[in-house]
Amino acid sequence: MQLNQIVVEVPRAQAGTAEAALQGLGALSVTLRDAGDEPLLEPLPGEQPLWGRVRVEALIPASVPSEAVGTALGDTLGSPCPWAVFPVPERDWVRETQAAFPARRFGRRLWVCPSWEEAPREATVLRLDPGLAFGTGAHPTTALCLEWLDAHPPRGQQVVDYGCGSGILGIAAALLGASTVWATDIDAQALEATRSNAAHNDLEPHRLEVVCPDALDGTSVSLVLANILQGPLLALQPTLTALVAPGGTLVLSGLLRDQAEAVRMRYTPAFRFVAEQTLDDWVLLEARRS
Ligand SMILES: C[S@@+](CC[C@H](N)C(=O)[O-])C[C@H]1O[C@@H](n2cnc3c(N)ncnc32)[C@H](O)[C@@H]1O
Repeated sequence: MQLNQIVVEVPRAQAGTAEAALQGLGALSVTLRDAGDEPLLEPLPGEQPLWGRVRVEALIPASVPSEAVGTALGDTLGSPCPWAVFPVPERDWVRETQAAFPARRFGRRLWVCPSWEEAPREATVLRLDPGLAFGTGAHPTTALCLEWLDAHPPRGQQVVDYGCGSGILGIAAALLGASTVWATDIDAQALEATRSNAAHNDLEPHRLEVVCPDALDGTSVSLVLANILQGPLLALQPTLTALVAPGGTLVLSGLLRDQAEAVRMRYTPAFRFVAEQTLDDWVLLEARRS
């Protein structure tokens, strides 16, 4: 189907109205973006914060005439608002999406492979297709953790993946020999994605158990992986400390270089920091529980 992209910029209060007007024209998708430069980091599940000015982009069939778009937007938004229409060139979306998620190697032998790629022989292969939850391995914070796991395979260990997203770290830990992994997140969609991804990797629930954070009260394990942003990592210090058994290891990721020191200070003296790895602007910290 030939498509056009409609772009309209509106104040925050009119974003929903513009979205509804475009959906009324038969939009196949509507995307809300930042019209300025106003970052919104890690909203809580259920929250839908919006920027002050919002750029609304919609894909609609090219058969919808421009006049109909102008009328629909003009009628619903009340005041005149600038909008533009761009023809969308015909593309092979499936091929392009697949090309954006190639199989990747982390460390020596851990590979993350989408379903449409052959797995290399003699590798530890984590099967994962991109989905709604964070964690494909493409982001440096995840890559740092996967490389750490490849270098420190948790054979026979009990592991917690705290802030599991897609479950990528917990699944990697299980494939690298962990006896049991508990994966948790505050986002219900992440828990669902982790369950599904674990099943695609033939991990039965006794190898990788997906639980709500509260269910881990009273648990302590030899390895906790937490790839979350600095704010949650600071706030979760008592929780993560309680989860790591004496002598156990805590791996923290999701930190920019200039954020690492504050986290180190918050987790000392319960932990001794023994190593750090960096990738681009991101840092992974490895700490041993006193
Ligand atoms: C950066 S993603 C990491 C996903 C995956 N572990 C990875 O390494 O790619 C952070 C995840 O932490 C979750 N999260 C944020 N705050 C949390 C909290 N207080 N407790 C549990 N999970 C949290 C988010 O919902 C998100 O799925």
